[in-house]
Amino acid sequence: MAETVGDGCQRLFFALWPEPGLQERLHRLGGAAVRKGDGRRVAAEKLHLTLCFLGGVDGGTRRCLEGQAGTVQAPPFTLVLDRLGYFPRPRVVWLGASAVPEPLPSLVQQLRDGQRRCGLEPERRPFQAHLTLARKARRGPAVNEMEPLVWPVERFALVASRTLPEGAQYEVLREWPLVAD
Ligand code: 2AM
Repeated sequence: MAETVGDGCQRLFFALWPEPGLQERLHRLGGAAVRKGDGRRVAAEKLHLTLCFLGGVDGGTRRCLEGQAGTVQAPPFTLVLDRLGYFPRPRVVWLGASAVPEPLPSLVQQLRDGQRRCGLEPERRPFQAHLTLARKARRGPAVNEMEPLVWPVERFALVASRTLPEGAQYEVLREWPLVAD
């Protein structure tokens, strides 16, 4: 049975959503990075970088969050994905960046501030930019070194997540461009 988040609620998050071509390249990289037979690799079309997890949200709160997202001020930036790692508790193999581009923490902070203004409690833990490449992995990546993957980031997205028996399904609901001053 699908997991429910309450009547009329959607489970939402803000994310950086790669173009399909980049998702394919990320997925191929995951094939080399994740140990064979260990964990469940995330499908190419589901690969993303979460900026701000919002949880179950009703229609009014979603409108508020969209209004706040429209006020975000951040320029486009380039993310160089060059680091592999493992979070042991959620058992995920991830891909991240050894250098965090300047606009990224500010973008996340503005989204968290907007979340608070809409009556939701933001995540307290510091933001750790990562794309989950595989879930339910018993061990970390097969390699530490990799060819850096360059991602020109020009927009961010509001995404809905539904948990179905076959796994999470994502739908990009709306996107906002990053605009230079
Ligand atoms: P993850 O990739 O590290 O699992 C949708 O669930 C996205 O929101 C996932 O990318 C997930 O990150 C992220 N997320 C952050 N906090 C979450 C939470 N408390 N519950 C579920 N997903 C969360």
